[in-house]
Amino acid sequence: MTPAKQPFISMRGVRYEYNPGTPQAQMALDGIDLDIYQGEFVAVIGANGSGKSTLARHCNALLLPQAGQVLVAGHDTRDPASLWEIRRRAGMVFQNPDNQIVATSVEEDAAFGPENLGVPPAEIRVRVREALAMVGLGELGKEEPHHLSGGQKQRLAIAGAMAMRPDGLILDEATSMLDPVGRREILATIQRLNAEDGVTIVLITHHMEEAAMAGRVLVMSSGRIVLDGPPAAVFADRERLLQIGLDVPLVARVADELRRRGLPVPPAVISKEELVKALCP
Ligand SMILES: Nc1ncnc2c1ncn2[C@@H]1O[C@H](COP(=O)(O)OP(=O)(O)O)[C@@H](O)[C@H]1O
Ligand SMILES: [Mg+2]
Repeated sequence: MTPAKQPFISMRGVRYEYNPGTPQAQMALDGIDLDIYQGEFVAVIGANGSGKSTLARHCNALLLPQAGQVLVAGHDTRDPASLWEIRRRAGMVFQNPDNQIVATSVEEDAAFGPENLGVPPAEIRVRVREALAMVGLGELGKEEPHHLSGGQKQRLAIAGAMAMRPDGLILDEATSMLDPVGRREILATIQRLNAEDGVTIVLITHHMEEAAMAGRVLVMSSGRIVLDGPPAAVFADRERLLQIGLDVPLVARVADELRRRGLPVPPAVISKEELVKALCP
């Protein structure tokens, strides 16, 4: 694990343009300065095309900055010698559960990462057992992955990353193809990994309710980070969010409305629990 005060991810002046120098040129990251520290739970929100996935792909060297610098656990993503160490430390989970399955059993699938790292077989078995237990798939090791539900497949993707003993997980809309049950499974899993195992979480989401669960919310617009703070503060800036095409969590909207009607609801209420406490102290 990274020492507590070294950032897990550090970006300075990062710029990235797709198809530079062509008529299709598209600026996707337009000067990103960002530190994410070990143990944080960070949500990233922003309208479609605001640069969230491009940001995610810079967190494990799937894309390299055209200007500026990205460090992952202190390793420069432009240093080819650090590539595998960076991929190990920053696990990625993508949107489509079916695209991430690489093997014909749950166990073998979770073993894929450590196998590529050259971890000895006995150690792989220990890690796979541990990682599957962490995501609640301990009983399904022999199962065929295509028999799993969407939520189970995404938890398998998380287990595959955890078997590499990462510092953090970056989830790019990893819940967006799941039903509500699958979404809840993933959220509970990453909350537990963050709280109990100190795994840093970067959760890219278009569900404001999911972002409200994070300790910190980053808001992207046109390739820049335009808001960065605790969820209560970020969602209090409703006008700014509406301007860039985002909404606030439903609970926050209900709280606003109740306050307008004269009920004693404090500002910055963003969770169901806070709202219930405000109304029924
Ligand atoms: N492979 C690509 N080729 C060309 N342009 C791209 C590609 N991927 C993304 N873009 C463009 O870059 C910008 C940022 O996209 P992206 O990072 O996918 O945003 P988000 O994940 O927030 O929807 C958008 O304008 C998008 O159209
Ligand atoms: Mg995206």
